[in-house]
Amino acid sequence: MFGGIIIHSLLVVFGGTGDLAHRKIYPAIYNLYVSGHLPENFAMAAVGRREKTEETFRKEAASSIRRYARENRGNQEDIDHVVSRFFYWQADFTKYNGYEELKDYLNALDARFHTHGNRIFYLAVAPEHFGTIVQHLDRSGMTDQERAYKRVVIEKPFGKDLASAIELNNIITGVFKEDQIYRIDHFLGKEMLQNILVIRFANAFFEPLWNNKYIDHIQITSSETVGVENRGGYYETAGAMRDMMQNHMLQLLMLTAMEPPVSLDTHAIRDEKVKVLKAIAPFSPEKVKTNVVRGQYGDGLIHGKPVSAYRKEERVSPDSDTETYIAMKLEIENFRWAGVPIYLRTGKRMPVKTTKIVIQFLPLPGILYYRNFGSLEPNRLIIEIQPREGVIIRFNGKKPGTRNEIIPVELDFCQNCAIGEVSPDAYEKLLLDVMNGDSTLFTRWDEVEYAWRLMDNITREWSSNIENPAFPNYASGTWGPAAADDLLERDGRFWFND
Ligand code: BG6
Repeated sequence: MFGGIIIHSLLVVFGGTGDLAHRKIYPAIYNLYVSGHLPENFAMAAVGRREKTEETFRKEAASSIRRYARENRGNQEDIDHVVSRFFYWQADFTKYNGYEELKDYLNALDARFHTHGNRIFYLAVAPEHFGTIVQHLDRSGMTDQERAYKRVVIEKPFGKDLASAIELNNIITGVFKEDQIYRIDHFLGKEMLQNILVIRFANAFFEPLWNNKYIDHIQITSSETVGVENRGGYYETAGAMRDMMQNHMLQLLMLTAMEPPVSLDTHAIRDEKVKVLKAIAPFSPEKVKTNVVRGQYGDGLIHGKPVSAYRKEERVSPDSDTETYIAMKLEIENFRWAGVPIYLRTGKRMPVKTTKIVIQFLPLPGILYYRNFGSLEPNRLIIEIQPREGVIIRFNGKKPGTRNEIIPVELDFCQNCAIGEVSPDAYEKLLLDVMNGDSTLFTRWDEVEYAWRLMDNITREWSSNIENPAFPNYASGTWGPAAADDLLERDGRFWFND
């Protein structure tokens, strides 16, 4: 069991014919069913603009489940059972017209599946529709909480800068209370992100070393081999900054750097996370120039196969200045971390898909082995988030033999290497948490707010004062622009690409 009590739910997916719903939400519902976590009283209504019959919709959902589900994909009986709970309602959700009929339709499903009036509204739509849908739901009387819960799940990006995020938040909080709002950052649903706190706070030998007395620097990487795929239109407005850095990368940083919470309660954890953002030294115009690097991929090779430049992707402008890579150096100004540089980088079309946190420890005094063997490899702790999930400790040992030689060796724990060990997909965990009313793994408003505050300083400088780099400035299949290597090399460090 994932834990918690499971409560009857009618899930309403706006954007129910879209990519996210088919790739992530429907397979997640199926996996929850197969693993025995779906509530007995459950139904899902997809709301979409396309005209289609319920039968066609179910067939499409079934084929997505077969394609993307993690477990037991081929079991027709299970798939049939799950999609028999799936319904389709065609409507233009941007227009108020039709919301009252939708309400009656949902009430009928509610009576049929005994979901007790509980509703989860999942907004898997383009961000510009978030506010409109919430307002229409309210006006049609679908948000009333009297005898049942009403929750809203909002996909990222939450705004495109601080001002637009505040505006959106005002609309949403005008209708829903903070504890009804589930802002998704799907990285938080990943098994290893949840494990970061366990590793840090359930072990005696990490926490005492987790500070500026012992740590030289931290680097967090999330690289992908894919390009922007069919999302050129969206990506042109987002770039790596809004797509990955403002949310997923900062979440990784918050979990790595936060203080121990007073309890494992949702608020206690989120309180400590947000303090990390508040303590990050703001990027001055000078720091944006020296400490932030942008890149955009050009033609190149991924796994030996030629791929084209970002500017040649569908729905991307041929002279686009959107960044597909970003690296930055920052510092957290608190007692634990002052003086420890933190390097973050994320990019598309890089040589491998990997997300990992590397903690590099300070060297010991330059005597004994350090004096006699020249420079030794630094000790490193590597938390592997994906696709390999594990923890590696790299330290120095004696090379077996009669000669005195020191070599780096590893303690390697891999939690998903054994065959059959497949971690639940992030969306399974997150959907289940929404049903259970647990918002720990979702983003609270102040996290969004402080993340934008930080990032806005950078994007403002880019758009007004700093000339764009000559894009493309890295070939697909490489580790990003040369300037990103300089960012570390000038500090006598380098990116750990092993
Ligand atoms: C999404 C971004 O939030 O995360 C995508 O919009 C990115 O651009 C994706 O590819 C990466 O997620 P994952 O789970 O595949 O690492």
